[in-house]
Amino acid sequence: MLVDVSEITTATTVLGTPVSMPLLVAPFAMHGLLAADGELATARAASALGTLFCVSTITTRTHTEIAAAGGAGPRWLQLYVVRDKQRTLDHLAEAREGGYSALALTVDIPLLGRRERDLKLGFQIPPDLPLPYIRGKDPALAETMAQHFQINSALTWRDLEWVAAESRLPVVLKGILTGEDAALAVEHGAAGVIVSNHGGRQLDGVAATLDALPEVVAAVDGRCEVYVDGGIRRGGDVLKALALGARAAFSGRAVAAALAVDGETGVRHVLSLLHDEIELGLGLLGCTSPDQVTRVHIEPTVPYDPPG
Ligand SMILES: Cc1cc2nc3c(=O)[nH]c(=O)nc-3n(C[C@H](O)[C@H](O)[C@H](O)COP(=O)(O)O)c2cc1C
Repeated sequence: MLVDVSEITTATTVLGTPVSMPLLVAPFAMHGLLAADGELATARAASALGTLFCVSTITTRTHTEIAAAGGAGPRWLQLYVVRDKQRTLDHLAEAREGGYSALALTVDIPLLGRRERDLKLGFQIPPDLPLPYIRGKDPALAETMAQHFQINSALTWRDLEWVAAESRLPVVLKGILTGEDAALAVEHGAAGVIVSNHGGRQLDGVAATLDALPEVVAAVDGRCEVYVDGGIRRGGDVLKALALGARAAFSGRAVAAALAVDGETGVRHVLSLLHDEIELGLGLLGCTSPDQVTRVHIEPTVPYDPPG
């Protein structure tokens, strides 16, 4: 209390890239199912708000189209390594022109989780939906997600080297939930880790990401940046993540819902709501920038000793 918060900035950096706030757009598949212009709408909105858009491998638009829509806005590419290695190599070659500043390699999906809601609803990918880096040139590929998803289940720590070499980008591992894996990530040269359980879509019963975050932050011990996703819906959620040691948080479903409701305008609206909540929360915590939010904001270090 009684801190001058008349000037507040929400701006920060991720791997050295400036972003307008510590809330980034998580990679989620098939924006084209939610809005006609799909990833282009999201790219425009994220770029307008100055925040980072992490584009999924399961994008319905090409990297060239997304780069044209997103302009100079910061972007990472989320990578799935598929069974056909050549297809991943071709994907990375095409992505190199896409203006991506890092690669987020998703590591929590050696096998596709059993998504009971998808099964119950009989979810099918529309046969005419373009998926340039999944379907490739073969639109006649199978129709269910499981059949489309030719992910390489044999990927190991050893593969990080060729992924980094081919992408020529810093590699962030998405889907880390333990201190042990975080330490291995650092030892294998990861530039960052995203504490994530894939929005609860992979293994049922794993830790909530906010609970796993402190262990990962401790294991990493400042050797790489740590991010988190899962259930980030309000600016206050982002501030809690920062207090627990995250550099920034990602949101998936908040952006997906916005895209479905009102396309680019919807995503702009949700991102600006989150921005304003982060700004207000910073001020009410007595902070003027994201890096001032620390563990002391959630955990008293010295027990309060009442006078007398
Ligand atoms: C519909 C949907 C599709 C997703 N697709 C991908 C994907 O293609 N690649 C990936 O790494 N994560 C994917 N995710 C996981 C998100 O990146 C993120 O981890 C998760 O959504 C965060 O939780 P939240 O939705 O509660 O914010 C997807 C999530 C959802 C809900």
